[in-house]
Amino acid sequence: MSTPRPGLKRRIHLFEFEDLGWFPKVLRDTITRWLAEVFVGTYDPVAPMITRLLDSGGTGQVVDLCSGGTGPWEYLKPLVDAERTGRGDGPLALTLTDLYPNVPSFTQVAGRLGRDVDFVTEGIDARHVPDHLKGVRTLFSSFHHLDYFDARAVLADAAGAGQPIGIFEFTQRDWRVVGPLFRSVPVSMLGAVRTWRPRNWVQMFFTYVIPLTVLTALWDSVVSELRTYRPHELEAMAEGLGGDGYRWEAGVSTSGPNGPITYIIGYPVQPEA
Ligand SMILES: C[S@@+](CC[C@H](N)C(=O)[O-])C[C@H]1O[C@@H](n2cnc3c(N)ncnc32)[C@H](O)[C@@H]1O
Repeated sequence: MSTPRPGLKRRIHLFEFEDLGWFPKVLRDTITRWLAEVFVGTYDPVAPMITRLLDSGGTGQVVDLCSGGTGPWEYLKPLVDAERTGRGDGPLALTLTDLYPNVPSFTQVAGRLGRDVDFVTEGIDARHVPDHLKGVRTLFSSFHHLDYFDARAVLADAAGAGQPIGIFEFTQRDWRVVGPLFRSVPVSMLGAVRTWRPRNWVQMFFTYVIPLTVLTALWDSVVSELRTYRPHELEAMAEGLGGDGYRWEAGVSTSGPNGPITYIIGYPVQPEA
């Protein structure tokens, strides 16, 4: 599973606009909503891993961290639910969270997905998840936002709380995926934002007149690729966290529509006698 990828050897941790506290909400929400809508199907291959994590934790609850504009859940939840209902379990319950929650997107997607989905309107830091938010923690397209110490803190917090966690990234630390972004990001953003309803004129202005949404999304997309962790780096980061009562697995899953997914999952186990 853990095939090494070609490309950049060293991780380059530049800033992303989305991580800056002062970054205007209208621009941040445009980027996170676009991310949630444009990569439909990307995370399909990890549905069985999420089912496995739910089973390992004996729970039907997912707490999604760093949810942005809800990430892949609109297409991923029905897949996991189908696996679960096929064997007689109920649909999973999903709670969406983020340090800077995109409440309009959370509200829209929760409305479409139905009563098993809720969200937290206050900022939830993936490094210190409150005790009352129990269940399988998931992070999509977001672990690369965290530097080594913050990323390790996310893993340590899950292991310390005895909760399973699954971290999934479709970005790749490889210069060859960077070039095409200069065309694909503007084309897809300019095509998407004008179709959104209700129409937000500030969002439209900063996309089609002064295209700050497009430029900052392009920067963040390039930087995301260069910051992505590799499986062996994830394994080294997790080493020792949770002790004998917790197990880690890292690798690269089979390809989805946007390429293979790098992952690390962690879950509690019975320590060997
Ligand atoms: C690229 S977006 C990914 C959003 C979504 N998961 C997706 O798949 O489209 C990364 C998100 O991580 C959030 N984030 C960054 N650092 C965080 C932290 N320490 N705790 C919680 N969320 C964080 C940002 O606010 C942003 O919404």
